[in-house]
Amino acid sequence: MRPDLIEEASSLAPWSGCAFVPTMGALHEGHASLIRSAARGSRPVVVSIFVNPTQFGPSEDYARYPRTLEADLVTCAAAGAAAVFLPAIETIYPRGIDAAREDAAHLSLPAVATQPGLEDACRPGHFAGVVQVVSRLFELVRPAVAHFGEKDWQQLRVITDMVEMHPTRFDGLRIVPEPTVREDNGLAMSSRNRYLEPGQIEAARGLSRALQVACAAQHPGTAEALMHGTLEEHGLEVQYAVVRSAQSLMPVHGFEAPTRGLIAAKLGNVRLIDTMALPIWR
Ligand code: PAJ
Repeated sequence: MRPDLIEEASSLAPWSGCAFVPTMGALHEGHASLIRSAARGSRPVVVSIFVNPTQFGPSEDYARYPRTLEADLVTCAAAGAAAVFLPAIETIYPRGIDAAREDAAHLSLPAVATQPGLEDACRPGHFAGVVQVVSRLFELVRPAVAHFGEKDWQQLRVITDMVEMHPTRFDGLRIVPEPTVREDNGLAMSSRNRYLEPGQIEAARGLSRALQVACAAQHPGTAEALMHGTLEEHGLEVQYAVVRSAQSLMPVHGFEAPTRGLIAAKLGNVRLIDTMALPIWR
Protein backbone atom coordinates (compact mmCIF):
# COMPACT_ATOMS: atom_id res chain seq x y z
CA MET A 1 0.00 0.00 0.00
CA ARG A 2 1.27 3.47 -0.87
CA PRO A 3 2.23 5.36 2.30
CA ASP A 4 0.49 8.64 3.17
CA LEU A 5 2.47 11.60 1.86
CA ILE A 6 2.89 14.41 4.38
CA GLU A 7 3.99 17.70 2.88
CA GLU A 8 2.73 20.17 5.50
CA ALA A 9 3.92 20.27 9.10
CA SER A 10 0.28 20.85 10.11
CA SER A 11 -0.59 17.31 8.89
CA LEU A 12 1.90 15.70 11.29
CA ALA A 13 -0.17 15.87 14.48
CA PRO A 14 -1.79 12.41 14.12
CA TRP A 15 1.65 10.82 13.72
CA SER A 16 2.99 11.97 17.07
CA GLY A 17 4.31 8.91 19.00
CA CYS A 18 5.33 7.13 15.77
CA ALA A 19 8.53 5.22 15.02
CA PHE A 20 10.64 7.56 12.91
CA VAL A 21 13.32 6.93 10.27
CA PRO A 22 14.95 10.18 9.06
CA THR A 23 16.71 9.91 5.67
CA MET A 24 18.01 11.99 2.78
CA GLY A 25 16.39 9.66 0.21
CA ALA A 26 18.17 7.72 -2.56
CA LEU A 27 17.03 4.80 -0.46
CA HIS A 28 18.79 1.44 -0.55
CA GLU A 29 18.58 -1.82 1.36
CA GLY A 30 20.27 -0.23 4.42
CA HIS A 31 17.44 2.30 4.73
CA ALA A 32 14.87 -0.44 4.02
CA SER A 33 16.22 -2.53 6.90
CA LEU A 34 15.79 0.44 9.28
CA ILE A 35 12.19 0.85 8.13
CA ARG A 36 11.48 -2.90 8.42
CA SER A 37 12.98 -2.98 11.90
CA ALA A 38 10.87 0.04 12.94
CA ALA A 39 7.77 -1.63 11.47
CA ARG A 40 8.28 -4.71 13.67
CA GLY A 41 7.25 -2.54 16.64
CA SER A 42 3.66 -1.62 17.36
CA ARG A 43 3.91 2.02 16.23
CA PRO A 44 3.23 3.32 12.72
CA VAL A 45 6.45 4.15 10.88
CA VAL A 46 7.10 7.61 9.45
CA VAL A 47 10.08 8.05 7.10
CA SER A 48 11.33 11.54 6.29
CA ILE A 49 13.11 12.35 3.04
CA PHE A 50 14.93 15.67 3.10
CA VAL A 51 18.33 16.49 1.61
CA ASN A 52 19.57 18.84 4.28
CA PRO A 53 21.66 21.70 2.85
CA THR A 54 23.19 22.76 6.17
CA GLN A 55 25.10 19.50 6.67
CA PHE A 56 26.94 19.80 3.34
CA GLY A 57 30.13 21.86 3.07
CA PRO A 58 30.48 24.45 0.29
CA SER A 59 32.53 22.10 -1.93
CA GLU A 60 30.43 18.99 -1.20
CA ASP A 61 27.77 17.18 -3.24
CA TYR A 62 24.52 18.89 -2.09
CA ALA A 63 23.49 19.90 -5.63
CA ARG A 64 24.25 16.52 -7.17
CA TYR A 65 23.11 14.35 -4.23
CA PRO A 66 20.91 11.65 -5.84
CA ARG A 67 17.17 12.40 -5.72
CA THR A 68 15.01 9.37 -6.57
CA LEU A 69 11.62 10.10 -5.02
CA GLU A 70 9.39 7.69 -6.99
CA ALA A 71 11.67 4.71 -6.31
CA ASP A 72 12.01 5.82 -2.66
CA LEU A 73 8.24 5.74 -2.18
CA VAL A 74 8.13 2.18 -3.54
CA THR A 75 10.92 1.19 -1.09
CA CYS A 76 9.09 2.85 1.83
CA ALA A 77 5.84 1.05 0.96
CA ALA A 78 7.51 -2.36 0.57
CA ALA A 79 9.39 -1.97 3.87
CA GLY A 80 6.22 -1.11 5.82
CA ALA A 81 6.25 2.69 6.22
CA ALA A 82 2.83 4.14 7.00
CA ALA A 83 3.73 7.69 5.99
CA VAL A 84 6.50 9.63 4.29
CA PHE A 85 7.24 13.19 5.38
CA LEU A 86 8.57 15.33 2.50
CA PRO A 87 9.17 18.72 4.05
CA ALA A 88 9.81 21.80 1.94
CA ILE A 89 12.98 23.74 2.77
CA GLU A 90 10.80 26.50 4.32
CA THR A 91 9.15 24.01 6.68
CA ILE A 92 12.52 23.05 8.12
CA TYR A 93 14.16 26.47 7.80
CA PRO A 94 11.48 29.20 7.91
CA ARG A 95 14.15 31.94 7.90
CA GLY A 96 15.86 30.56 4.79
CA ILE A 97 19.04 28.58 4.18
CA ASP A 98 21.55 31.38 4.76
CA ALA A 99 20.05 32.20 8.16
CA ALA A 100 19.91 28.45 8.94
CA ARG A 101 23.63 28.09 8.20
CA GLU A 102 24.30 31.03 10.53
CA ASP A 103 22.13 29.44 13.24
CA ALA A 104 23.88 26.07 12.85
CA ALA A 105 27.25 27.69 13.46
CA HIS A 106 26.06 28.78 16.94
CA LEU A 107 24.60 25.48 18.15
CA SER A 108 26.14 23.77 21.15
CA LEU A 109 27.07 20.23 20.16
CA PRO A 110 27.70 17.05 22.16
CA ALA A 111 31.44 16.47 22.69
CA VAL A 112 31.41 13.39 20.45
CA ALA A 113 30.68 15.66 17.45
CA THR A 114 34.06 17.34 17.59
CA GLN A 115 36.45 14.57 18.71
CA PRO A 116 39.74 15.36 16.94
CA GLY A 117 40.71 13.28 13.91
CA LEU A 118 37.18 12.19 12.93
CA GLU A 119 34.38 13.72 10.81
CA ASP A 120 34.79 17.26 12.14
CA ALA A 121 38.40 17.34 10.91
CA CYS A 122 37.26 16.51 7.35
CA ARG A 123 33.79 18.09 7.29
CA PRO A 124 33.80 21.07 9.65
CA GLY A 125 30.25 22.14 10.47
CA HIS A 126 28.73 18.85 9.26
CA PHE A 127 27.39 17.73 12.63
CA ALA A 128 26.06 21.19 13.42
CA GLY A 129 23.88 20.77 10.31
CA VAL A 130 22.90 17.23 11.29
CA VAL A 131 21.98 18.24 14.86
CA GLN A 132 20.04 21.20 13.49
CA VAL A 133 17.94 19.19 11.03
CA VAL A 134 17.41 16.14 13.25
CA SER A 135 16.30 18.24 16.23
CA ARG A 136 13.93 20.20 13.97
CA LEU A 137 12.53 16.95 12.52
CA PHE A 138 12.09 15.48 16.02
CA GLU A 139 10.20 18.60 17.14
CA LEU A 140 7.92 18.52 14.09
CA VAL A 141 7.27 14.75 13.99
CA ARG A 142 7.36 14.11 17.78
CA PRO A 143 8.26 10.41 17.51
CA ALA A 144 8.47 7.98 20.44
CA VAL A 145 11.39 6.09 18.89
CA ALA A 146 13.83 6.93 16.09
CA HIS A 147 16.04 4.44 14.24
CA PHE A 148 19.57 5.30 13.09
CA GLY A 149 22.20 3.19 11.31
CA GLU A 150 25.45 2.15 12.97
CA LYS A 151 27.12 2.73 9.58
CA ASP A 152 27.24 6.43 10.55
CA TRP A 153 28.56 5.59 14.01
CA GLN A 154 29.63 9.09 14.98
CA GLN A 155 26.27 10.48 13.84
CA LEU A 156 24.47 7.84 15.95
CA ARG A 157 26.59 8.82 18.99
CA VAL A 158 25.95 12.54 18.38
CA ILE A 159 22.16 12.08 18.11
CA THR A 160 22.03 9.76 21.14
CA ASP A 161 23.93 12.29 23.26
CA MET A 162 21.87 15.20 21.90
CA VAL A 163 18.67 13.49 23.06
CA GLU A 164 20.21 12.62 26.44
CA MET A 165 21.27 16.26 26.89
CA HIS A 166 17.66 17.47 26.36
CA PRO A 167 15.33 14.81 27.82
CA THR A 168 12.34 17.12 28.21
CA ARG A 169 12.73 18.81 24.82
CA PHE A 170 12.46 15.45 23.04
CA ASP A 171 9.90 14.02 25.44
CA GLY A 172 11.43 10.63 26.32
CA LEU A 173 12.38 9.83 22.72
CA ARG A 174 14.38 6.59 22.42
CA ILE A 175 17.16 6.22 19.81
CA VAL A 176 17.47 2.69 18.38
CA PRO A 177 20.76 1.68 16.68
CA GLU A 178 20.54 -0.57 13.62
CA PRO A 179 23.28 -2.81 12.18
CA THR A 180 25.06 -1.91 8.94
CA VAL A 181 23.73 -3.57 5.80
CA ARG A 182 26.43 -4.58 3.31
CA GLU A 183 26.63 -5.78 -0.27
CA ASP A 184 27.63 -9.46 -0.61
CA ASN A 185 31.17 -8.22 -1.31
CA GLY A 186 31.35 -6.43 2.07
CA LEU A 187 30.87 -2.86 0.81
CA ALA A 188 28.62 -0.96 3.24
CA MET A 189 25.53 0.26 1.40
CA SER A 190 25.40 4.01 0.89
CA SER A 191 23.51 6.45 -1.31
CA ARG A 192 26.94 7.67 -2.46
CA ASN A 193 27.85 4.21 -3.84
CA ARG A 194 25.87 5.32 -6.92
CA TYR A 195 28.73 7.65 -7.73
CA LEU A 196 31.17 4.73 -8.06
CA GLU A 197 32.16 3.52 -11.53
CA PRO A 198 31.98 -0.31 -11.91
CA GLY A 199 35.79 -0.38 -11.98
CA GLN A 200 35.98 1.37 -8.58
CA ILE A 201 33.95 -1.23 -6.65
CA GLU A 202 36.98 -3.43 -5.98
CA ALA A 203 38.87 -0.45 -4.54
CA ALA A 204 35.85 0.57 -2.44
CA ARG A 205 35.87 -2.88 -0.84
CA GLY A 206 39.13 -1.80 0.78
CA LEU A 207 37.21 -0.12 3.63
CA SER A 208 35.45 -3.26 4.85
CA ARG A 209 38.57 -5.35 4.22
CA ALA A 210 40.66 -2.94 6.31
CA LEU A 211 38.15 -3.18 9.16
CA GLN A 212 38.18 -6.99 9.00
CA VAL A 213 41.96 -6.98 9.16
CA ALA A 214 41.76 -4.65 12.18
CA CYS A 215 39.49 -7.17 13.93
CA ALA A 216 42.39 -9.65 14.04
CA ALA A 217 44.90 -7.18 15.54
CA GLN A 218 45.75 -7.41 19.23
CA HIS A 219 46.65 -3.77 19.80
CA PRO A 220 44.98 -0.53 18.62
CA GLY A 221 48.26 0.79 17.17
CA THR A 222 48.69 -2.38 15.11
CA ALA A 223 45.05 -2.22 14.01
CA GLU A 224 45.49 1.35 12.78
CA ALA A 225 48.70 0.50 10.89
CA LEU A 226 47.03 -2.53 9.27
CA MET A 227 44.01 -0.45 8.24
CA HIS A 228 46.20 2.21 6.63
CA GLY A 229 48.18 -0.48 4.76
CA THR A 230 45.04 -2.19 3.43
CA LEU A 231 43.43 1.11 2.34
CA GLU A 232 46.56 2.22 0.53
CA GLU A 233 46.89 -1.18 -1.21
CA HIS A 234 43.40 -0.56 -2.61
CA GLY A 235 44.40 2.87 -3.95
CA LEU A 236 42.21 4.72 -1.43
CA GLU A 237 43.14 8.17 -0.12
CA VAL A 238 42.88 7.81 3.66
CA GLN A 239 41.24 10.65 5.62
CA TYR A 240 41.23 8.73 8.89
CA ALA A 241 41.55 5.08 9.89
CA VAL A 242 41.44 4.90 13.68
CA VAL A 243 40.50 2.82 16.69
CA ARG A 244 38.39 4.68 19.24
CA SER A 245 36.23 4.06 22.28
CA ALA A 246 32.80 3.16 20.86
CA GLN A 247 31.16 5.41 23.47
CA SER A 248 33.33 8.52 23.79
CA LEU A 249 35.15 8.24 20.43
CA MET A 250 38.36 9.05 22.32
CA PRO A 251 41.62 7.22 21.46
CA VAL A 252 42.15 3.96 23.42
CA HIS A 253 45.26 2.18 24.63
CA GLY A 254 43.96 -1.40 24.58
CA PHE A 255 40.94 -3.48 23.63
CA GLU A 256 39.51 -3.89 27.13
CA ALA A 257 36.33 -1.87 26.51
CA PRO A 258 34.04 -1.70 23.46
CA THR A 259 36.05 -0.10 20.65
CA ARG A 260 35.32 0.65 16.99
CA GLY A 261 37.41 0.93 13.91
CA LEU A 262 36.34 4.05 12.01
CA ILE A 263 37.41 4.85 8.46
CA ALA A 264 36.88 7.68 5.99
CA ALA A 265 38.60 7.40 2.62
CA LYS A 266 38.29 8.92 -0.82
CA LEU A 267 38.20 7.30 -4.20
CA GLY A 268 38.53 10.15 -6.67
CA ASN A 269 35.72 12.55 -5.74
CA VAL A 270 33.71 9.95 -3.81
CA ARG A 271 34.01 9.97 -0.03
CA LEU A 272 33.22 6.69 1.72
CA ILE A 273 32.96 5.88 5.43
CA ASP A 274 32.68 2.59 7.28
CA THR A 275 33.01 1.25 10.80
CA MET A 276 33.02 -2.04 12.71
CA ALA A 277 33.01 -3.11 16.34
CA LEU A 278 36.42 -4.55 17.25
CA PRO A 279 36.65 -7.64 19.47
CA ILE A 280 37.56 -7.25 23.14
CA TRP A 281 40.90 -9.00 23.90
CA ARG A 282 41.58 -10.18 27.44
P1 PAJ B 1 21.10 9.04 5.10
O1 PAJ B 1 22.52 8.97 4.67
O2 PAJ B 1 20.02 8.98 4.08
O3 PAJ B 1 20.89 7.86 6.13
C1 PAJ B 1 19.66 7.71 6.79
C2 PAJ B 1 19.81 6.60 7.83
O4 PAJ B 1 20.14 5.37 7.19
C3 PAJ B 1 20.94 6.91 8.83
O5 PAJ B 1 20.50 6.55 10.13
C4 PAJ B 1 22.05 6.01 8.33
O6 PAJ B 1 22.96 5.63 9.34
C5 PAJ B 1 21.26 4.80 7.84
N1 PAJ B 1 22.05 4.00 6.89
C6 PAJ B 1 22.71 4.46 5.80
N2 PAJ B 1 23.37 3.42 5.21
C7 PAJ B 1 23.13 2.31 5.96
C8 PAJ B 1 23.53 0.94 5.88
N3 PAJ B 1 24.32 0.49 4.91
N4 PAJ B 1 23.07 0.08 6.83
C9 PAJ B 1 22.26 0.53 7.83
N5 PAJ B 1 21.83 1.81 7.96
C10 PAJ B 1 22.27 2.69 7.04
O7 PAJ B 1 22.21 9.97 7.71
C11 PAJ B 1 21.53 10.75 7.07
O8 PAJ B 1 20.83 10.39 5.94
C12 PAJ B 1 21.35 12.21 7.46
O9 PAJ B 1 22.51 12.68 8.07
C13 PAJ B 1 20.11 12.45 8.37
C14 PAJ B 1 20.25 11.72 9.71
C15 PAJ B 1 18.82 12.01 7.66
C16 PAJ B 1 20.00 13.97 8.67
O10 PAJ B 1 19.91 14.71 7.51
